[in-house]
Amino acid sequence: MYDNIIFFDNLPSTNDKAKELARGGAPDGTVILALSQENGRGRNGRQFSSQKGGLYMSLILRPQLPVTSGAGITVAAATAVNRAIFNAFGIGTGIKWVNDLYYREKKVCGILAEGFDIAAGDDGKPRFGFIILGIGVNVSGDLEFPAELSEIAGTLEQKFKDGNELKKALFDLALNIQREVSEEISAMEKNCRTGGDLFSRQFVDNYNEKFIARNKEVIIGGRKAVALGIEGNGGLTVLLPDGKEEIITSGEVSLRPF
Ligand code: BTN
Repeated sequence: MYDNIIFFDNLPSTNDKAKELARGGAPDGTVILALSQENGRGRNGRQFSSQKGGLYMSLILRPQLPVTSGAGITVAAATAVNRAIFNAFGIGTGIKWVNDLYYREKKVCGILAEGFDIAAGDDGKPRFGFIILGIGVNVSGDLEFPAELSEIAGTLEQKFKDGNELKKALFDLALNIQREVSEEISAMEKNCRTGGDLFSRQFVDNYNEKFIARNKEVIIGGRKAVALGIEGNGGLTVLLPDGKEEIITSGEVSLRPF
């Protein structure tokens, strides 16, 4: 169980601060939390809009998992944040493989996992020295987004009477996320040790129920496909137009009409 949270009013990016602290020896489970970011980063070099009213946090993880579990860690994190949001606000979100959560058909959370310092682990297999799991959640209904995001980005529509109430809610959500991520990573480590898939059948079924693109036509890696659901190592099985199935382990699913 983690409880170590380091708080900042504002940072360029919590992922960058977490990386600096991890290099200085900060332990597994440390959370860096900021009320806003000047230069919040998303996947593929995109910006992540980070005004006051959202949760911007990064978790330092030192898991005993092979480097091949990259997509799996983001899948586990999305599941953990989905549950944490439910615990904190009673809101059910949908998951879009591999790193987004949706509410009322708009993106309300993005996850950016970055792995560093690959070296051989105790068993001789390559591992990341540490992983920075960056999580941004649009919590307050008062958050505003740049015009180009207004059709895509949404919020959890929470109302707060003042800054203190907002801060308390963000700490509560961060603690929930820290606990849920810890549980998911422990389960993955155990599954790995016993030689099974990263995820149990129950986890996979539960994820696929919440997966908003399931059985829908999507674009992935520039190709049209039908998203069928995740499999035991967190990859996404898709059905291609030629009738073949393929497991995708990286890339982004786009739900936009084509
Ligand atoms: C994405 O949607 O592409 C991922 C967005 C990840 C944003 C979070 S906010 C906290 C952490 N710090 C960052 O600079 N990025 C992540």
